Amino acid sequence: MTYDTIKAELHGNVGLITLNRPDSLNALSSQLISELAEALKRMDKNKEIGAMVLTGSDKAFAAGADIKEMQDKKWPETFNEDFITDEWEQVANCRKPIIAAVAGFALGGGCEIAMMCDFILAAESAKFGQPEIKIGVWPGAGGSQRLTRLVGKSKSMEMCLTGRMMGSEEAERVGLVSRIVPDADLIEDAINTAKQIASMSRPATLMIKDIINRAYETTLSEGIRYERRMFQASFGTPDQREGMAAFVEKRKPKFS
Ligand code: CAA
Repeated sequence: MTYDTIKAELHGNVGLITLNRPDSLNALSSQLISELAEALKRMDKNKEIGAMVLTGSDKAFAAGADIKEMQDKKWPETFNEDFITDEWEQVANCRKPIIAAVAGFALGGGCEIAMMCDFILAAESAKFGQPEIKIGVWPGAGGSQRLTRLVGKSKSMEMCLTGRMMGSEEAERVGLVSRIVPDADLIEDAINTAKQIASMSRPATLMIKDIINRAYETTLSEGIRYERRMFQASFGTPDQREGMAAFVEKRKPKFS
Protein backbone atom coordinates (compact mmCIF):
# COMPACT_ATOMS: atom_id res chain seq x y z
CA MET A 1 0.00 0.00 0.00
CA THR A 2 1.41 3.42 -0.93
CA TYR A 3 0.42 6.77 0.51
CA ASP A 4 0.98 10.42 -0.44
CA THR A 5 1.69 11.93 2.96
CA ILE A 6 3.25 9.10 4.94
CA LYS A 7 5.60 6.18 4.27
CA ALA A 8 4.73 2.78 5.71
CA GLU A 9 7.35 0.02 5.77
CA LEU A 10 8.08 -3.24 7.51
CA HIS A 11 11.34 -3.92 9.31
CA GLY A 12 10.97 -7.58 10.17
CA ASN A 13 8.15 -7.76 12.69
CA VAL A 14 8.09 -3.97 13.22
CA GLY A 15 5.94 -1.50 11.29
CA LEU A 16 7.60 1.87 10.65
CA ILE A 17 5.47 4.85 9.69
CA THR A 18 7.20 8.08 8.63
CA LEU A 19 5.18 11.28 8.38
CA ASN A 20 6.14 12.77 5.05
CA ARG A 21 5.04 16.31 4.25
CA PRO A 22 8.47 17.96 4.32
CA ASP A 23 7.28 21.27 2.82
CA SER A 24 5.00 21.94 5.77
CA LEU A 25 7.04 20.36 8.59
CA ASN A 26 4.63 17.39 8.53
CA ALA A 27 1.61 19.55 9.32
CA LEU A 28 -1.23 17.17 10.08
CA SER A 29 -3.64 17.64 7.18
CA SER A 30 -6.86 15.64 7.02
CA GLN A 31 -5.32 13.48 4.28
CA LEU A 32 -2.27 12.74 6.42
CA ILE A 33 -4.42 11.83 9.41
CA SER A 34 -6.63 9.54 7.25
CA GLU A 35 -3.59 7.82 5.77
CA LEU A 36 -1.97 7.47 9.19
CA ALA A 37 -5.13 5.96 10.67
CA GLU A 38 -5.47 3.56 7.74
CA ALA A 39 -1.83 2.43 7.93
CA LEU A 40 -2.00 1.95 11.69
CA LYS A 41 -5.22 -0.06 11.44
CA ARG A 42 -3.58 -2.36 8.88
CA MET A 43 -0.47 -2.81 11.01
CA ASP A 44 -2.51 -3.40 14.13
CA LYS A 45 -4.35 -6.23 12.33
CA ASN A 46 -1.24 -7.68 10.64
CA LYS A 47 -0.29 -10.81 12.59
CA GLU A 48 3.35 -10.54 11.50
CA ILE A 49 3.77 -7.17 13.24
CA GLY A 50 4.41 -7.01 16.98
CA ALA A 51 5.04 -3.28 17.48
CA MET A 52 5.09 -0.02 15.54
CA VAL A 53 7.29 3.06 15.33
CA LEU A 54 5.93 6.45 14.30
CA THR A 55 8.41 9.10 13.25
CA GLY A 56 8.83 12.26 11.18
CA SER A 57 11.84 14.00 9.66
CA ASP A 58 15.08 15.34 11.15
CA LYS A 59 13.48 18.78 11.36
CA ALA A 60 9.97 17.92 12.51
CA PHE A 61 8.02 15.04 13.91
CA ALA A 62 5.01 17.26 13.15
CA ALA A 63 4.43 21.00 13.58
CA GLY A 64 0.76 20.55 14.47
CA ALA A 65 -2.58 20.46 12.74
CA ASP A 66 -2.47 22.02 9.28
CA ILE A 67 -3.24 25.67 10.00
CA LYS A 68 -3.65 26.56 6.32
CA GLU A 69 -6.24 23.82 5.89
CA MET A 70 -8.26 24.65 9.00
CA GLN A 71 -8.05 28.44 9.11
CA ASP A 72 -11.41 28.98 7.37
CA LYS A 73 -13.40 26.39 9.29
CA LYS A 74 -16.42 27.65 11.23
CA TRP A 75 -17.97 26.38 14.42
CA PRO A 76 -20.99 24.42 13.17
CA GLU A 77 -18.75 22.61 10.69
CA THR A 78 -16.12 21.66 13.30
CA PHE A 79 -18.88 20.47 15.65
CA ASN A 80 -20.84 18.57 13.02
CA GLU A 81 -17.82 16.75 11.66
CA ASP A 82 -16.48 16.29 15.22
CA PHE A 83 -13.16 17.80 14.15
CA ILE A 84 -10.06 16.19 15.72
CA THR A 85 -11.50 12.96 16.96
CA ASP A 86 -12.09 9.63 15.28
CA GLU A 87 -9.14 9.13 12.89
CA TRP A 88 -6.73 11.09 15.12
CA GLU A 89 -7.57 8.82 18.04
CA GLN A 90 -6.61 5.75 16.01
CA VAL A 91 -3.05 6.34 17.25
CA ALA A 92 -4.22 5.93 20.84
CA ASN A 93 -6.59 3.10 19.90
CA CYS A 94 -3.98 0.71 18.52
CA ARG A 95 -3.80 -2.43 20.60
CA LYS A 96 -0.16 -3.08 19.76
CA PRO A 97 2.61 -0.99 21.32
CA ILE A 98 3.58 2.07 19.33
CA ILE A 99 6.70 4.15 19.91
CA ALA A 100 6.98 7.79 18.87
CA ALA A 101 10.50 8.55 17.63
CA VAL A 102 10.68 12.34 17.76
CA ALA A 103 13.33 14.61 16.24
CA GLY A 104 12.83 18.35 15.79
CA PHE A 105 9.45 19.98 16.33
CA ALA A 106 6.57 18.11 17.96
CA LEU A 107 4.12 20.96 18.35
CA GLY A 108 0.37 21.20 18.90
CA GLY A 109 -1.20 18.18 17.23
CA GLY A 110 2.34 16.83 16.69
CA CYS A 111 2.98 16.76 20.42
CA GLU A 112 -0.52 15.33 20.93
CA ILE A 113 0.04 12.50 18.43
CA ALA A 114 3.39 11.72 20.09
CA MET A 115 1.64 11.57 23.47
CA MET A 116 -1.00 9.18 22.05
CA CYS A 117 1.84 6.72 21.42
CA ASP A 118 2.86 4.41 24.25
CA PHE A 119 6.17 6.10 24.84
CA ILE A 120 8.34 8.73 23.26
CA LEU A 121 12.00 8.32 22.33
CA ALA A 122 13.42 11.79 21.80
CA ALA A 123 16.38 12.79 19.65
CA GLU A 124 18.56 15.48 21.23
CA SER A 125 17.02 17.98 18.78
CA ALA A 126 13.42 17.27 19.86
CA LYS A 127 11.28 20.23 20.89
CA PHE A 128 7.82 19.76 22.35
CA GLY A 129 5.10 22.35 22.76
CA GLN A 130 1.42 23.22 22.71
CA PRO A 131 1.65 26.61 20.99
CA GLU A 132 -2.03 26.82 19.96
CA ILE A 133 -2.48 29.88 22.15
CA LYS A 134 -0.23 31.81 19.78
CA ILE A 135 -2.77 31.32 16.98
CA GLY A 136 -5.77 32.12 19.16
CA VAL A 137 -6.93 28.60 19.97
CA TRP A 138 -6.06 25.82 22.41
CA PRO A 139 -5.17 22.12 22.24
CA GLY A 140 -7.83 19.98 20.57
CA ALA A 141 -6.36 16.50 20.23
CA GLY A 142 -5.95 15.67 23.90
CA GLY A 143 -2.98 17.91 24.71
CA SER A 144 -4.46 19.63 27.74
CA GLN A 145 -5.36 16.23 29.23
CA ARG A 146 -2.44 14.00 28.27
CA LEU A 147 0.26 16.64 28.87
CA THR A 148 -1.18 17.40 32.30
CA ARG A 149 -1.25 13.73 33.25
CA LEU A 150 2.30 13.25 31.98
CA VAL A 151 4.07 16.33 33.36
CA GLY A 152 1.71 17.71 36.01
CA LYS A 153 -0.46 20.81 36.24
CA SER A 154 2.17 23.50 36.71
CA LYS A 155 4.33 22.56 33.71
CA SER A 156 1.29 21.86 31.52
CA MET A 157 -0.32 25.19 32.39
CA GLU A 158 2.89 27.06 31.64
CA MET A 159 3.42 25.27 28.32
CA CYS A 160 -0.17 25.75 27.14
CA LEU A 161 -0.55 29.33 28.41
CA THR A 162 2.74 30.64 27.01
CA GLY A 163 3.18 28.30 24.05
CA ARG A 164 6.88 27.90 24.87
CA MET A 165 8.75 24.85 23.64
CA MET A 166 10.43 22.29 25.86
CA GLY A 167 13.75 20.76 24.76
CA SER A 168 14.60 17.08 25.01
CA GLU A 169 16.47 17.34 28.32
CA GLU A 170 13.59 19.08 30.06
CA ALA A 171 11.15 16.64 28.45
CA GLU A 172 13.07 13.68 29.83
CA ARG A 173 13.43 15.31 33.27
CA VAL A 174 9.68 15.84 33.59
CA GLY A 175 8.72 12.41 32.28
CA LEU A 176 7.31 13.36 28.88
CA VAL A 177 9.85 11.16 27.09
CA SER A 178 11.33 7.85 28.15
CA ARG A 179 14.87 8.38 26.80
CA ILE A 180 17.02 10.77 24.76
CA VAL A 181 19.19 9.40 21.96
CA PRO A 182 21.58 11.11 19.54
CA ASP A 183 19.73 12.27 16.41
CA ALA A 184 21.76 9.96 14.17
CA ASP A 185 20.69 6.90 16.20
CA LEU A 186 17.01 7.72 16.67
CA ILE A 187 15.38 5.51 14.04
CA GLU A 188 17.69 2.55 14.55
CA ASP A 189 17.22 2.72 18.31
CA ALA A 190 13.43 3.00 17.97
CA ILE A 191 13.25 0.06 15.55
CA ASN A 192 15.50 -2.07 17.76
CA THR A 193 13.42 -1.21 20.81
CA ALA A 194 10.25 -2.11 18.88
CA LYS A 195 11.87 -5.38 17.70
CA GLN A 196 12.68 -6.23 21.30
CA ILE A 197 9.03 -5.66 22.24
CA ALA A 198 7.82 -7.61 19.19
CA SER A 199 9.95 -10.60 20.22
CA MET A 200 8.10 -10.94 23.53
CA SER A 201 4.86 -12.82 24.15
CA ARG A 202 2.17 -11.04 22.08
CA PRO A 203 -0.57 -11.41 24.72
CA ALA A 204 1.87 -10.07 27.32
CA THR A 205 2.64 -6.92 25.29
CA LEU A 206 -1.04 -6.23 24.58
CA MET A 207 -1.95 -6.86 28.20
CA ILE A 208 0.80 -4.63 29.60
CA LYS A 209 -0.34 -1.79 27.36
CA ASP A 210 -3.91 -2.35 28.51
CA ILE A 211 -3.16 -2.44 32.26
CA ILE A 212 -0.83 0.57 32.22
CA ASN A 213 -3.38 2.62 30.28
CA ARG A 214 -5.97 1.59 32.86
CA ALA A 215 -3.96 3.58 35.41
CA TYR A 216 -5.13 6.76 33.67
CA GLU A 217 -8.78 5.77 33.68
CA THR A 218 -9.53 4.47 37.14
CA THR A 219 -8.80 4.62 40.86
CA LEU A 220 -5.67 3.03 42.33
CA SER A 221 -7.56 0.22 44.09
CA GLU A 222 -9.61 -0.64 40.96
CA GLY A 223 -6.49 -0.46 38.81
CA ILE A 224 -4.62 -2.83 41.11
CA ARG A 225 -7.61 -5.19 41.18
CA TYR A 226 -7.73 -5.16 37.35
CA GLU A 227 -3.99 -5.79 37.12
CA ARG A 228 -4.22 -8.74 39.52
CA ARG A 229 -7.14 -10.33 37.62
CA MET A 230 -5.22 -9.93 34.37
CA PHE A 231 -2.06 -11.34 35.99
CA GLN A 232 -4.06 -14.38 37.08
CA ALA A 233 -5.31 -14.74 33.49
CA SER A 234 -1.68 -14.90 32.26
CA PHE A 235 -1.62 -18.43 33.71
CA GLY A 236 -4.05 -19.41 30.96
CA THR A 237 -1.50 -18.65 28.22
CA PRO A 238 1.05 -21.05 26.69
CA ASP A 239 3.58 -18.19 26.83
CA GLN A 240 3.45 -18.16 30.65
CA ARG A 241 4.34 -21.87 30.73
CA GLU A 242 7.04 -21.45 28.08
CA GLY A 243 8.53 -18.29 29.66
CA MET A 244 8.76 -19.76 33.14
CA ALA A 245 9.98 -23.19 31.91
CA ALA A 246 12.69 -21.47 29.83
CA PHE A 247 13.86 -19.56 32.90
CA VAL A 248 14.05 -22.71 35.01
CA GLU A 249 15.79 -24.65 32.21
CA LYS A 250 18.22 -21.75 31.60
CA ARG A 251 17.33 -21.32 27.91
CA LYS A 252 15.76 -18.64 25.74
CA PRO A 253 11.94 -18.76 25.61
CA LYS A 254 10.19 -19.50 22.32
CA PHE A 255 6.92 -17.60 22.57
CA SER A 256 4.05 -18.79 20.43
N1 CAA B 1 0.33 24.11 9.49
C1 CAA B 1 0.55 24.44 8.20
N2 CAA B 1 1.77 24.78 7.74
C2 CAA B 1 2.78 24.77 8.60
C3 CAA B 1 2.62 24.45 9.96
C4 CAA B 1 1.32 24.09 10.40
N3 CAA B 1 1.08 23.72 11.67
N4 CAA B 1 3.82 24.55 10.59
C5 CAA B 1 4.71 24.92 9.64
N5 CAA B 1 4.09 25.06 8.44
C6 CAA B 1 4.69 25.46 7.16
C7 CAA B 1 4.99 26.94 7.13
O1 CAA B 1 3.86 27.70 6.81
C8 CAA B 1 6.06 26.98 6.06
O2 CAA B 1 5.43 26.88 4.79
P1 CAA B 1 5.83 27.92 3.60
O3 CAA B 1 7.24 27.55 3.28
O4 CAA B 1 4.85 27.59 2.52
O5 CAA B 1 5.71 29.27 4.18
C9 CAA B 1 6.83 25.68 6.27
O6 CAA B 1 5.94 24.83 7.01
C10 CAA B 1 8.09 25.85 7.10
O7 CAA B 1 7.73 26.52 8.30
P2 CAA B 1 8.48 27.84 8.82
O8 CAA B 1 9.02 28.64 7.67
O9 CAA B 1 7.57 28.54 9.76
O10 CAA B 1 9.72 27.18 9.58
P3 CAA B 1 10.53 27.76 10.84
O11 CAA B 1 11.68 26.83 11.02
O12 CAA B 1 10.80 29.21 10.67
O13 CAA B 1 9.52 27.63 12.09
C11 CAA B 1 7.93 26.47 13.49
C12 CAA B 1 9.14 26.36 12.54
C13 CAA B 1 8.36 27.18 14.79
C14 CAA B 1 7.50 25.04 13.82
C15 CAA B 1 6.78 27.26 12.82
O14 CAA B 1 6.57 26.72 11.52
C16 CAA B 1 5.50 27.23 13.56
O15 CAA B 1 5.34 27.93 14.54
N6 CAA B 1 4.53 26.39 13.10
C17 CAA B 1 3.19 26.32 13.67
C18 CAA B 1 3.19 25.57 14.99
C19 CAA B 1 1.78 25.57 15.58
O16 CAA B 1 1.20 26.59 15.88
N7 CAA B 1 1.24 24.35 15.79
C20 CAA B 1 -0.09 24.17 16.37
C21 CAA B 1 -1.13 24.05 15.27
S1 CAA B 1 -2.79 24.03 15.90
C22 CAA B 1 -3.00 22.45 16.46
O17 CAA B 1 -2.15 21.59 16.33
C23 CAA B 1 -4.33 22.19 17.13
C24 CAA B 1 -4.47 20.88 17.79
O18 CAA B 1 -4.50 20.77 19.00
C25 CAA B 1 -4.61 19.66 17.00
